[in-house]
Amino acid sequence: MARDEPLTVADVARLAEARLPKELWDYVEGGSGAETTLAANRAALDAVALVPRVLGGTEAPDPTTRLLGSAAALPFAVAPMAYQRLLHPDGELATAAAAAAAGVPYLVSTLSSVPVEDLAKTGATLWFQLYWLRSRGLVESLVRRAEDAGCEALMVTVDVPVMGRRLRDVRNSFALPDDVVAAHLDEGSVGRAHDHRHGSSAIAAHTAAAFAPGLGWAEIEWLRGRTPLPLVLKGVLDHRDAVLAVESGVDAVVVSNHGGRQLDGAVPSITALPAVAEAMAGRADVYLDSGVRSGTDILRALASGAHGVLVGRPVLYGLAADGARGAGHVLSLLAEEVRDAMTLAGCADVAAARALSTVRTVRT
Ligand code: FNR
Ligand code: LAC
Repeated sequence: MARDEPLTVADVARLAEARLPKELWDYVEGGSGAETTLAANRAALDAVALVPRVLGGTEAPDPTTRLLGSAAALPFAVAPMAYQRLLHPDGELATAAAAAAAGVPYLVSTLSSVPVEDLAKTGATLWFQLYWLRSRGLVESLVRRAEDAGCEALMVTVDVPVMGRRLRDVRNSFALPDDVVAAHLDEGSVGRAHDHRHGSSAIAAHTAAAFAPGLGWAEIEWLRGRTPLPLVLKGVLDHRDAVLAVESGVDAVVVSNHGGRQLDGAVPSITALPAVAEAMAGRADVYLDSGVRSGTDILRALASGAHGVLVGRPVLYGLAADGARGAGHVLSLLAEEVRDAMTLAGCADVAAARALSTVRTVRT
């Protein structure tokens, strides 16, 4: 990280905003509609008060854990995020290298601008995020490609039947520049994402053309029968859907509102989490994303029933600010903050963090 060392994710966000053209900052930072859910994610996390334990004799907490049964150095993974070469020429190569260095899993987006085979060379533990495309053949070939590249899990994102209405992108007539492509899709299918049209979002137009809006449980069961990899559903907010997921053979769910980018007005993830965790009762891992910006937030999620979290935009702030170094700096900051928060809360390990009590406070 050049110049002054950023001390928080918010510091890194400021550097990223200063570096990026406005339309790119808006694409990363924006939510859908009136951005109610985007703001509510933060407010709800801030309203979770942790009740620390004392006199546990904790000198150096152990933040290592297992995510989907595999060892992770920290209780988080890097969330799947599309088109990262928009933000830095190294794109996903930089963020995957940062995840490898931090010892946390890295989610490869279906819409990655670097192919999964190249990301495998970074040495990161890769999980592949699947968007359900209209062509079943294409879905099947993506699954095989992910398996062949050594991905250790498949995460199906289930909250994008169509893209949420991102008004910032519409106002900016946002389109991908020609040199940023969806590396896993052929140009014929992704061409629309480059098609600059006044008053509309080209990435939303591409999604509408490429994604299958009618994705249902039958497809999840079909996928379960086709791959030995652990399956994760991302974008579950109702505990009844979490139960259906387990019944369909799913190994984990991510309680997520897509960082406030899909249904505006959707419940904050941290508010939905306890009921989902309770319904799972240990039958499946439960992860959370949307709004996590600090070690304290990670502790809030663990104490509310999560086994781990996905970190989204903070990694992109780091990438935009300073490539692999910037993304690595963000992951190091979060690692330090998690250890610090665990120490101050009297938690020797992640199991102790998950056993903390929380109190919901109301803002006055
Ligand atoms: C995303 N997200 C996302 N999710 C997904 O399943 N596939 C994808 O390709 C993308 N792409 C994407 C791009 C950008 C720029 C952002 C900001 C987000 C959603 C992401 O995985 C995650 O759910 C949210 O980012 C979590 O919220 P925070 O941490 O960004 O607040
Ligand atoms: C997004 C899509 C690509 O949130 O998932 O931008």
